[in-house]
Amino acid sequence: MTKKIISVCLLFAIAHLTKSQTYTIQSPNSIVKAEFLVNKKGQPEYRVYFKNKAVIESSSMGFELKENPSLKDMPPMKDNFLVSRVDSSLANDTWQPVWGEVKTIRNNFRQYIFHLIEKDNLQRRLNIIFRVFDDGVGFRYEFPSQKNLNVFAVADETTQFHLTGNHKTFWIPGDFDSNEFQPSVTNLSDVNASDGKEVNEIAFKTSIDNKTVQTPLMMKTNNALYINIHEAALVDYPAMNLSLNKNNYVLSSTLVPDAYGIKAYLIAPAKTPWRTIIVSDKATDILASKTILNLNEPSKIKNTTWIKPMKFVGVWWEMHVGKSTWDYAGTQDASNAQDLQPSGRHGATTANVKRYIDFAAKNKIDGVLVEGWNTGWEDWFGKWKENVFDFITPYPDFDVKELSRYARLKNVKLIMHHETSGAVSSYERQMDTAYRFMKKFGYDAVKTGYVGRIIPRGEHHDGQWMINHYLRVAEKTASYNIMVDMHEPVRSTGLHRTYPNWLASEAARGNEFNAWSKGNNPDHETILPFTRLMGGPMDYTPGIFQIKMDKYDPKKTEQVHTTLAKQLALYITMYSPLQMAADLPENYEKHMDAFQFIKDVAVDWDDTRIIEAEPGDYITIARKAKGKQDWFIGSITDENARDININLDFLDKGKKYMAIIYADGKDADWKNNPMSYIISKQTVDNTSRLSVKLAPGGGCAVSLKQVK
Ligand code: NOJ
Ligand code: CA
Repeated sequence: MTKKIISVCLLFAIAHLTKSQTYTIQSPNSIVKAEFLVNKKGQPEYRVYFKNKAVIESSSMGFELKENPSLKDMPPMKDNFLVSRVDSSLANDTWQPVWGEVKTIRNNFRQYIFHLIEKDNLQRRLNIIFRVFDDGVGFRYEFPSQKNLNVFAVADETTQFHLTGNHKTFWIPGDFDSNEFQPSVTNLSDVNASDGKEVNEIAFKTSIDNKTVQTPLMMKTNNALYINIHEAALVDYPAMNLSLNKNNYVLSSTLVPDAYGIKAYLIAPAKTPWRTIIVSDKATDILASKTILNLNEPSKIKNTTWIKPMKFVGVWWEMHVGKSTWDYAGTQDASNAQDLQPSGRHGATTANVKRYIDFAAKNKIDGVLVEGWNTGWEDWFGKWKENVFDFITPYPDFDVKELSRYARLKNVKLIMHHETSGAVSSYERQMDTAYRFMKKFGYDAVKTGYVGRIIPRGEHHDGQWMINHYLRVAEKTASYNIMVDMHEPVRSTGLHRTYPNWLASEAARGNEFNAWSKGNNPDHETILPFTRLMGGPMDYTPGIFQIKMDKYDPKKTEQVHTTLAKQLALYITMYSPLQMAADLPENYEKHMDAFQFIKDVAVDWDDTRIIEAEPGDYITIARKAKGKQDWFIGSITDENARDININLDFLDKGKKYMAIIYADGKDADWKNNPMSYIISKQTVDNTSRLSVKLAPGGGCAVSLKQVK
């Protein structure tokens, strides 16, 4: 690792700084520029430019504060400042993620630290740190240790993002507890966060904030700049929603509150997450950006050899489609779990789990997730009560010991499921016991879940208390050498760099909505990489082959809103080191030729090329398998058919490759003919082009194996 830091420390005599000085921070190759100043009123302001075009106009920064614990108002920290000192440096180094989309990541930015001090008697100090990369800007606030600011509360952060116009925007409504919304695509002036609400059938409807939208917020300007606003390294602080003023296109930070309306409780020295603005004139650069990862801290886990990207199947989709149930009895009228009477519909039986283990073993799938294995599911949903689950008591028809023996014999890993039903206080009490139980029975990975309102009551999924909880889970699972996949947590902010055992999160509207709701629009998967996935991998659960749900019950009208081939392409376009083959073994067995792609596809990569992309329309990505010569391509489109013509110039020169192309059938169409696909083979090299037709709502997956 090479690290070059040139540190320039500029000390200014305070007396000379009464007039506003603008500091210009150029990115290493002068593509992005940030400007910072403290104006005449002593207010900090910043601007951002891309190739000299304004991206963010003059925007304010600062805080409204309260005393802790009285919660009485404290003078705000947003004006009356002087710049007392400026430090600048340049970083240019590389690092290797434990797993990821590429083998090596370059971290190249110019940093300025502005040390501000209040002009009045309080003389409180605030540092604002800017890091300017060639594809964007990160800035954060730091409260240094000081006499007049120690234990305090943040009532509001007053950071603004002053946009330059009425951009096209990909947004979901602000909600303190859920991100499981279908994104809307409108101009900023048409953002109406109270619309689109009804599409979140499992939202809690208690914390929707009509005036805000969530990040990552993706925008496109009418001069074709792509802008993404999000945050990095969300630690000990609430998530940031953005409220929009349609008169001037100013987005203002709106932090998720606790029951008292307080946003964060801090003790100096303290720092906020980074606010990120990623910008380019190419949509592909947005998807390739590593800025959010670079703004996170290196891995805190020293020995990472036990952390392994993987594919898995699960006793899971069959519950979502109504073939079986999570619960064992259907009703909870027994005082003792062992007295429950079986309904005969329970999914997580020993025999059924063995069936999945056999399927995984036969097809070289690494793991089997089992949901509904522990008692409590008769009574888990929509209750807002504690102690529903204990995470160590299996239902009588789930033989944990035998299954652990059987899985080991078959060389398959069982994946644990901890649904907390929002009772996080119960979970916190039981985490050690639950993880010890996992280790005893050979489980190395857990999927956690936070469906429902949070206990402690008054806390929200995206508030400071829960942010700290997710980190406790990441740290504690790491201490047991356990990998974790979180459902219904806060959206990701790149913390998988620091905790690489935190393989993935859901934190958006997953494929499951297609099983039991009006589903995800055909453009959904072309938007998610530009929004939710900017912060990190998503457990989207691709790979549904049985597209229409009337197969399970003729009355059902639900369906997956893609073709079968597009479900394959998602293994490439929806990056995650943890990929589920989400459909039922019996559905795969009918299409083993198409399932071959899921068997072959890698989950960890040495290289990634974003070939073409337009948010809401299409994405084509090629990735090179870790430690191998094999490449895989995924290409998806929205509701419109599309012809792709891919240049294979990324392949090794002079080598031949066998391309297997999993394409939409001739008359395929997500609505009327979604399961039609054609598989063809072709020998190619780095001078070849691949032409494929994508159906409406369709896609294409390609595996490229080097021929020896
Ligand atoms: C919602 C999760 O997203 C889903 O994967 C899980 O099956 C259910 N909760 C039950 O925990
Ligand atoms: Ca969910």
